Amino acid sequence: MTDLVKISVDSGVMEIVWNRPDKKNALSNAMYRAATEALARAKDDAAIRVVILASEGDSFTSGNDLADFAAAAATGAPTSAGGFIEAIAQFPKPLVAAVSGLAVGVGTTMLLHCDLVFIARDAKLTTPFVNLALVPEAASSLLLPAHIGHRRAFAMFALGEPLTGEQAAELGIANAAMAASEVLSAAREAARKLTQRAPGAVMAAKKLMRDGEKIMTQLRTEGAIFGERLKSAEAMEAFTAFQQKRAPDFSKF
Ligand code: COA
Repeated sequence: MTDLVKISVDSGVMEIVWNRPDKKNALSNAMYRAATEALARAKDDAAIRVVILASEGDSFTSGNDLADFAAAAATGAPTSAGGFIEAIAQFPKPLVAAVSGLAVGVGTTMLLHCDLVFIARDAKLTTPFVNLALVPEAASSLLLPAHIGHRRAFAMFALGEPLTGEQAAELGIANAAMAASEVLSAAREAARKLTQRAPGAVMAAKKLMRDGEKIMTQLRTEGAIFGERLKSAEAMEAFTAFQQKRAPDFSKF
């Protein structure tokens, strides 16, 4: 149990809320596990029709906790991110996201598995995997280029270039961009409407729209390479640089 993720259920809607604002909602192993368990519960409980992903504070999430990445690299123990990513990628019911502020790494790639996304105009989406000597995850190497094209996706992955919430909506990663103060109510209103639809039809439509097998194959291929990269000296330099609040130096590699 962790209080760094708030989970509540009301009128058929589960809300999973990142609640670690002092760390920009960096996702720790315990947070991933709590969210994964909540998704399993939501999947099995017929009374839960929709899940909303949202956040406290000024950031959606700054992505994986880099201290957990460094620990995984040092010990070889897997992080809990993989379980969460598989759970959202395979979640059969609608996932609705309310996004404001920073959405770094998995903060952006999890949106590619959401069915509705409401985003603040000034939100900042980044996927700086290569800056950390890592590779894209969560099937984003397949899904992001499919949404925004190879070149723009490569600039995000390899140069760390951001997208604003406004751009995300224009490019179809989000349904609508609005004031940050409005994203949660927009997500709740959409979720409320979804609870009134026939649940079997909603799930069947979602399943038809996604090539689940291809997504899982890509996700696992990425996961194997990501695990190798995590243990690399290049990645260790990136994590150490973050802890030491300096830019990484890859010149020796
Ligand atoms: N993992 C662990 N801690 C993180 C974190 C992360 N991903 N992101 C932010 N934090 C912590 C910072 O270390 C800092 O902690 P401190 O107050 O104890 O020093 C606190 O959250 C606030 O972050 P700070 O860097 O001071 O805020 P900022 O507004 O200047 O910058 C970010 C915010 C998100 C741009 C910056 O923190 C960052 O680049 N984080 C790493 C993002 C990342 O690479 N994620 C993984 C992607 S795969």
